[in-house]
Amino acid sequence: MTRASVHGTSVPQRLIVVGSGIAGLYAALLAADAGAEVVLLTKGELAESNTYYAQGGISAVLADPAPGDTVAAHIADTLNAGAGHCNTEAVRVLCSEAREDIAGLGRFGVRFDLAHDGGPALGLEAAHSAPRILHAGGDATGAGVANALIRAVLSRSTDGKIQLYGGAHATALRQSHGRVSGVDFSQGGRSLSVSGDAVLLATGGAGQLFAQTTNPAVATADGLALAWRAGAAVSDLEFFQFHPTCLVRTGATTDPEGDQDPLLISEAVRGEGAVLLDTHGLRFMPDYHLDAELAPRDVVSRSIALHLAKLGDPNGHVYLDARLIEAAKGPGFLEKRFPTLSQKTREAGLDWTRDLVPVAPAAHYWMGGVTTDLSGRTSVPGLLAAGEVACTGVQGANRLASNSLLEGLVFGRRAVEAFLSDPLAGASLDAVPPLAVSAASGLPLTLASGTPSNDERKPGFGASKALPTVGEHRFSFAPVSGQSFSRAALRRLMTANAGVLRNGVLLREASETLAGWAAVVRPEMVPLSEDPRVHEDASLLLAAQLLVRAAGERRASLGAHYRSDSVDGAAIHELEETYQMRPKASLVHD
Ligand code: FAD
Ligand code: SIN
Repeated sequence: MTRASVHGTSVPQRLIVVGSGIAGLYAALLAADAGAEVVLLTKGELAESNTYYAQGGISAVLADPAPGDTVAAHIADTLNAGAGHCNTEAVRVLCSEAREDIAGLGRFGVRFDLAHDGGPALGLEAAHSAPRILHAGGDATGAGVANALIRAVLSRSTDGKIQLYGGAHATALRQSHGRVSGVDFSQGGRSLSVSGDAVLLATGGAGQLFAQTTNPAVATADGLALAWRAGAAVSDLEFFQFHPTCLVRTGATTDPEGDQDPLLISEAVRGEGAVLLDTHGLRFMPDYHLDAELAPRDVVSRSIALHLAKLGDPNGHVYLDARLIEAAKGPGFLEKRFPTLSQKTREAGLDWTRDLVPVAPAAHYWMGGVTTDLSGRTSVPGLLAAGEVACTGVQGANRLASNSLLEGLVFGRRAVEAFLSDPLAGASLDAVPPLAVSAASGLPLTLASGTPSNDERKPGFGASKALPTVGEHRFSFAPVSGQSFSRAALRRLMTANAGVLRNGVLLREASETLAGWAAVVRPEMVPLSEDPRVHEDASLLLAAQLLVRAAGERRASLGAHYRSDSVDGAAIHELEETYQMRPKASLVHD
């Protein structure tokens, strides 16, 4: 294998990138421009990704920030939102290297919206202490970024620098001599494979694990499953972020198989001044957090869930009042600042300059993933990961808004740099968080049914109280235990038992149901099928088992992982006892 030489240094020949979101596209471009041979596989069209749907923007403190803003403030905000669980070095890298990769995007043709003074227009979002969110096309940032990167990739594909495989579903990682050496994939019903010096997983997240999600259909945890089956360590899987404001389509039907059209109402709308009201028209967030609607999003999601429970309507919705923005900033502001959302809410039958928008929390972003070091190296030599599929620890227990596109850029670039310097290296992973597990560790995936709950373990806290019954915290689903496996049943189970509010009883029940399904599906093994959907189902089931186990093992609430049976869950015990959860079909369709 001959090697290209760039600036007199030897460049490894071939990098296989799996996934065409921000992490995969940016990494493929950087590697190709450095002289490497790049193969880019993606399971749908190039634009099918979470990245494409991103609205709010990309956080970055640039050379000319908003008055008073600093990289140190961005670091502090990220650490605060992460609930003390962040890898601080990863956060320092993310925030201090941000401007390098914003400039990198510029080189590939990405243009951000400008303010009147000709500098970048900077937005404010929840839990950011200063306006530092770059956006493109108003609220179409993801599409703006993805389209520019896709154009750059297509041009390099024409030049023969990037080999593109669309509709190519990665089904397994090939391994030889203790390292990853290629990818098996299914394309058009055929099994194919490609070999390379290293594989970069950039397969994004797993919102399809839950019945309500902001994520598109491609977000099925494939990368996590591929890596786990190859023996890679994974970590922080109990931390799944629920975005507080996903449109609730009252009266519309939702397809539980995942084909519904979710509409996230960007946090930037609250950043501009929108508030949350309950069905009585009362603003409730100030009762839950000092920062009210601009509290970290786990707090806002949980507050909505708790408030709905308090109102006796746990499966209901609240309202986002954006009318205030129009009143304060003048007619036409919403249309100009949020053109996509204005159009999409109109399509949903709402005029948000006059109407309240019904919203509820939905699964949005997975903080956990394939454990990597700060250069994207996993514990398996030859396997790199970046973006939402990876866990550097940068997002801690709860991601700060608009830090995720940035993560894909910064750690995607660093993964390419690691590949160029030594493609065969595995990570030393000094910073692996304590719950890291891998297939190689041989740990069982089920929670032991004898695992004591916090009530049992902590004398003095509810020891004499009956454990909450299984029906509490359950959203409006029919019981799933006893049902055979289907994606819809899995998504219902995860929302009901491992969603915004969790406890030991529900998690144990979920673990048992998942184990029953897994005994038949065997998700720990690569499915013998050319059908991508069969592979996705297995990925989802495996990911669900790993998530539920991690959630069961973490007894205390932290960040997005909220257990009503931990000490700080006392408030919800009271609610559980006072208010009966009763079904309402506006949010969840069985
Ligand atoms: P993705 O963009 O999800 O891309 C993953 C790619 O991998 C896709 O192309 C997919 O098809 C491919 N893939 C998956 N499995 C396979 C397989 N088996 N074989 C081949 N290909 C595969 N973050 C922000 O920072 N700011 C925002 O404003 C923001 N808004 C958001 C709004 C919405 C509605 C959503 C859903 C997310 C938002 N996020 C935002 C989060 C952010 O978009 C994602 O975390 C980020 O885009 C992830 O990028 P990625 O490159 O890691 O993965
Ligand atoms: C949003 O626009 O609210 C989403 C931003 C994000 O997920 O970072």
